[in-house]
Amino acid sequence: MPTTDSQDNRSHVPVMVTEVLDWLNVQPAGTYFDGTIGLGGHATAVHSLLNQQGKLIGFDLDEEALEITRTKFDASSPPVVLHHNSYDKFPEVSFESGYTPVNGMLLDLGLSSLQMDTPERGFSYAADGPLDMRFDKNSGIPASELIRITAESDLADLIYKYGEERRSRPIARSIKHAKSMNSIADLTEAIRRVTPPAHRNRSHARVFQALRIAVNHELDNLIRFLKLFPEHMAIGGRIVILSYHSLEDRLVKQRFKALAAEKVYRILTKKPVRPSADEIAVNRRARPAKLRAAERLS
Ligand SMILES: C[S@@+](CC[C@H](N)C(=O)[O-])C[C@H]1O[C@@H](n2cnc3c(N)ncnc32)[C@H](O)[C@@H]1O
Repeated sequence: MPTTDSQDNRSHVPVMVTEVLDWLNVQPAGTYFDGTIGLGGHATAVHSLLNQQGKLIGFDLDEEALEITRTKFDASSPPVVLHHNSYDKFPEVSFESGYTPVNGMLLDLGLSSLQMDTPERGFSYAADGPLDMRFDKNSGIPASELIRITAESDLADLIYKYGEERRSRPIARSIKHAKSMNSIADLTEAIRRVTPPAHRNRSHARVFQALRIAVNHELDNLIRFLKLFPEHMAIGGRIVILSYHSLEDRLVKQRFKALAAEKVYRILTKKPVRPSADEIAVNRRARPAKLRAAERLS
């Protein structure tokens, strides 16, 4: 995800770039899919290893990020093809556009620093802004609307399931009984009222994570992609996934295990690969990252 605190909000420091390149084992003439291209940090590194026969396809739901990335790759050779779409739609787009089979796929899940550090997007509890949290500003409903249409008990379940927050019930009650729930400040105040100061930051982070996952259907998208991606890979092709919380990582781990049991893929990373202490020291947002990789066998 990540940047250091001193960077401006249009930048993003990609996580574990060396490790991503190592595990992807980029073939210069290969076709690569970056399903969460964001500001193109990983994509730039992959692209630098391609020759004229190579191809890079990037998807993202965030039009603002895609615009910046489009400019970055404007005159690049080989060209980079960008799609404003969800990565789980890759199988359909890939068949239509003739991308299948690809030699490598990358998902770098979670938020970019551009999103995290732009208060108007409503992703961070560090600054006030509208309670939105959508990756795609023109589709779906913002977090404020999701809260409005969700019953208190369902909201509590959602906060417990997606945020792994123990105080989900009092928090949901406080949120639903708040006078207004349109801004980040409204939400943080509702959480503040029912959480002890020592645990408050963690509760904020968990509730924000839960709402973001729900607003963007993040786990559904990942489950759909994990089901469909295998047949779009060439034999010997590799998939690398960086996840930032245990719910995502568990899904990736289970799917890779199932594919390995069927002998369709082999798992390359027995344990998830973590960022080095040196990387975390300069980019604290890299800290929760877990990288898993697998290779198509048959
Ligand atoms: C951690 S950032 C990726 C950063 C990127 N690897 C880089 O180096 O700049 C995650 C990106 O995934 C995008 N995203 C989240 N869910 C998505 C989905 N279902 N389909 C496509 N992009 C998605 C977000 O908009 C965000 O730009």
